[in-house]
Amino acid sequence: MKITPPPYKIKVVQKIRQIGRAERVERLENAYFNPFFLDADDVYIDLLTDSGTGAMSDEQWSAIMRADESYAGSNSFKRMERAIREVFGFQYIIPTHQGRGAEDVFDRIMIKEGMLVPGNKHFDTTKAHIEDKKGFAVDCTIDEIHNTQSTHPFKGNLDTQKLERVIRENNKNIAYVLITITCNSGGGQPVSLANILHVSKICRKHRVPLFFDAARFAENAYFIKEREKKYHKKNIQYIVHKMMSCVDGCLMSAKKDAIVNMGGFIAVRDKSLYKNLAPIAILKEGFLHYGGMSGRDMEALAIGIREGIDYDYLRYRTWQVKFLAEELQKIGIPVVTPPGGHAVYVDAKKFLPHIPREQFPGHALACQLYIEGGIRGVEIGTLLAGRDPKTGKNVDPGLELLRLALPRRVYTLEHLYYVIEVFKKLKENKDKIRGLGFTYEPPTLRHFNAKFKLL
Ligand code: F0G
Repeated sequence: MKITPPPYKIKVVQKIRQIGRAERVERLENAYFNPFFLDADDVYIDLLTDSGTGAMSDEQWSAIMRADESYAGSNSFKRMERAIREVFGFQYIIPTHQGRGAEDVFDRIMIKEGMLVPGNKHFDTTKAHIEDKKGFAVDCTIDEIHNTQSTHPFKGNLDTQKLERVIRENNKNIAYVLITITCNSGGGQPVSLANILHVSKICRKHRVPLFFDAARFAENAYFIKEREKKYHKKNIQYIVHKMMSCVDGCLMSAKKDAIVNMGGFIAVRDKSLYKNLAPIAILKEGFLHYGGMSGRDMEALAIGIREGIDYDYLRYRTWQVKFLAEELQKIGIPVVTPPGGHAVYVDAKKFLPHIPREQFPGHALACQLYIEGGIRGVEIGTLLAGRDPKTGKNVDPGLELLRLALPRRVYTLEHLYYVIEVFKKLKENKDKIRGLGFTYEPPTLRHFNAKFKLL
């Protein structure tokens, strides 16, 4: 495979160490078979998430030094606001401590009891916030998302017929439509501009507001450039503006594509919506000029959001993901194709057919991966999907995946070769991997702090 070298060099390093296999078994038992409870020091390669785990640039660290920590009217807020306005094209920016802070504030205004929020496989915190306001998330993703081997270039797309049917059948009861770019719960799959334009047209026709969950907007824009012929020659900034022009605003976890360790925001076009959101934001997140972020975070975000749309950076980042996916495929590990933007998703249902869905094959694989090589990944499947609030039954997301998320600018190719070596070993004994059952199941967002036993 042709090598794409990184467009940066390493200036600061952080020591990591590998503990022995017997110690890893003990650590995992002490963590109730939930990798979220492991000490990070006991993890060798941490692919748990790409959220807040990126390496900041020299430019970001320099900007942090000039941060203004004033409670109101700080220069740091103004610089961040200017950067978001330029990159996204929205006028009104409300800072929040991270993505779920934005979701909470937004949903308090947008959702009344019983209202629906159609979208493409809402992320877990997004869905939990909708349900917290007594609303319902309705999944309208195209069917291809459930076929991990399909080569459809935009598996994050919404099924526009289904969307229109849901809107028509629930007239006046739609809070808003949410497009998640890229679709994290469906394998980091992008949404095409053609689909975004079509959804936008439907929403305008029915006078339904349309928003993005924009956590990975830049990776989505990169895939549009690569995979949608019409936009091959357009630059990433152009594509981002075009995407944003289709919606009324967005919710953003800046911990992903804005390459910061903490932060988020709501960005909207409409002044009256901003006015409605502002008092709730002050109550829940903090004054409008910091919203849970320090001046240092806001300075880092102002730089990071521009670095996040740099073509060379995006080309290398998505290449790294593709490299890992293709090398795993070569040794017979089934992965979601085409590879997404921020992570490789292993098809645990295919890889471990002896483990039933109720025993969480993706989670069983995550546990074994830690034991085998000190690598931490996370399940994206039945465990994450939780229970249906109406029936109390486990939701069937149609996918049982293990996500290996690549933090931005953190790991080298050698780290990825090590991951591939560990998978080779894991494959030899895969039939011995056992499913898991709960010893404690929390009422919401259960995967974060559930406790398990081997079955
Ligand atoms: N939306 C998407 C698509 C996400 O992936 C996340 C977080 C959020 C919203 C919430 O943002 O964490 O800043 O509150 N995803 C992380 C992950 C946790 O590992 O995928 P947050």
